Amino acid sequence: METTHDRPDVRSFYALGDADLSRARCLGTACFVARHLAPAQRSEAESQSPPVYCLGKCYAAPASGEDAARPRIEVRSRTAVVLERIVERPARELDDYARRGGLVGLRKALEIGPEQTLGEVDTSELRGRGGAAFPTGQKWRTAAAQVAPAKYVVANFDEGDPGAYVDRFLVEDDPFCLVEGMAIAALAVGASQGWIYARCEYPDAVARLRRALDDARGSGLLGPRVLGSDFAFDVELVVGRGSYACGEETSLVASIEGRRPVVHPRPPFTAEHGLWNAPTVVNNVETLANVPWILRHGGARYAALGIPGSRGTKVLSLNSLFRRPGLYEVDFGTPLSTIVDDVGGGLERGTLKGLWIGGPLSGVIPPTLLDTPLGFAELRAIGASVGHGGVIALDEHTAIRDLVWYVFEFGAFESCGMCTPCRLGTTRIAELFAANARRAHDGRDARREFDEIVSALKYASLCGLGTGLAEFAESIVRYYGEELRPCFA
Ligand SMILES: Cc1cc2nc3c(=O)[nH]c(=O)nc-3n(C[C@H](O)[C@H](O)[C@H](O)COP(=O)(O)O)c2cc1C
Ligand code: SF4
Repeated sequence: METTHDRPDVRSFYALGDADLSRARCLGTACFVARHLAPAQRSEAESQSPPVYCLGKCYAAPASGEDAARPRIEVRSRTAVVLERIVERPARELDDYARRGGLVGLRKALEIGPEQTLGEVDTSELRGRGGAAFPTGQKWRTAAAQVAPAKYVVANFDEGDPGAYVDRFLVEDDPFCLVEGMAIAALAVGASQGWIYARCEYPDAVARLRRALDDARGSGLLGPRVLGSDFAFDVELVVGRGSYACGEETSLVASIEGRRPVVHPRPPFTAEHGLWNAPTVVNNVETLANVPWILRHGGARYAALGIPGSRGTKVLSLNSLFRRPGLYEVDFGTPLSTIVDDVGGGLERGTLKGLWIGGPLSGVIPPTLLDTPLGFAELRAIGASVGHGGVIALDEHTAIRDLVWYVFEFGAFESCGMCTPCRLGTTRIAELFAANARRAHDGRDARREFDEIVSALKYASLCGLGTGLAEFAESIVRYYGEELRPCFA
């Protein structure tokens, strides 16, 4: 029987479907900036159909589906929060997880109840790690305040940003921490069903999640009586089929429901009207992975970490151009120069041309601004973002013309099509910056056209894909203007 998921208008939205990715070549950002290391592989990636934007192996870029190496994983923050178990060894068995600090937070939440659980999350000042940095306590309170027959909690494990592989290892190495975080969220807002929306580009993580969910059900962590209490909660896994836009929460909700997952205007907000119109908390995997620690140690202890406005720690994933690529937990407030030089060990070879955090839909930071501390407001002040914490070093092998072309090709490929500047403008900018750009100019004023499209993306986009592209473009104008100018000649 055909389900809504199989309808042609739904199926056509997704790039990958059930494609076998075991030998795929990665087209992601880290692989793009490392393309000079393996030009033949890059050509294969560019001619591959369908294209694959990011296999989460940026530490080994240029990467392919066959690469099985693991990244270096270290805690560089004063306190280990999110990587506390993983840094030692993975915690893939439930009893091992419980022996190493797991489930204490959920037991505490069950003991103190929803209102005090919300209070701890408020006190922690935790903000979402999925890109928008929205206060988690505020989102949960909105959902908790709704009177509805059903409520849902969704873990956003789409990790679409090429260059980020944070959630991949949180899920592969510590899957029960995500389940515990979701259970605490569900208890706090009054939900009894959860969903994990996982990207298909991470087949190992999907397999581990399936096993972890079975184990959690078999041992009473999920089910009608969570840890022997009266609280009922279960989690279902949904695997995406290759779409960056589906990481955006209204698109994600439509994808789970089996509708064509274009982005929808907000309000209504998902916390009020989400899955099947019910109040739905959508949180990023890393956000939820912070929650068990907050309940275990108390919100106040969490709020003592980091800097005002950016509390706790952040996990960063560094690309292969660093001497020490890998996954690092750092304190908010750490200067970017420390991340580049001490954490990443500087570049393996070549000169740093720019640092791209939370890209590709964020600003590129020039080396002159590396004294900026890592923080939501601090990066915003220089036209950049924390995003999801992928950190890409660019060197002299990446020309600005090629970089702009790459980012707008990506934007055009992933646009959901709802807004005109994003649907058409991205393609036009990619044309202007393509290798044969002179022919594409058609005698029009290319600079003016570029500026107008960027401005339209900034002010007339429904979601962060369009506004993020504008942020990227504005950073190029601001910091790389001299190299940009001849691109319009
Ligand atoms: C185009 C686009 C893609 C996104 N992709 C992701 C993603 O892959 N993972 C994620 O957690 N959030 C993603 N987001 C942000 C989500 O819409 C949402 O803000 C987030 O999941 C909320 O969780 P948080 O509050 O814990 O950050 C994306 C947003 C946009 C605009
Ligand atoms: S900005 Fe792009 S991806 Fe976002 S809603 Fe508009 S068309 Fe869709």
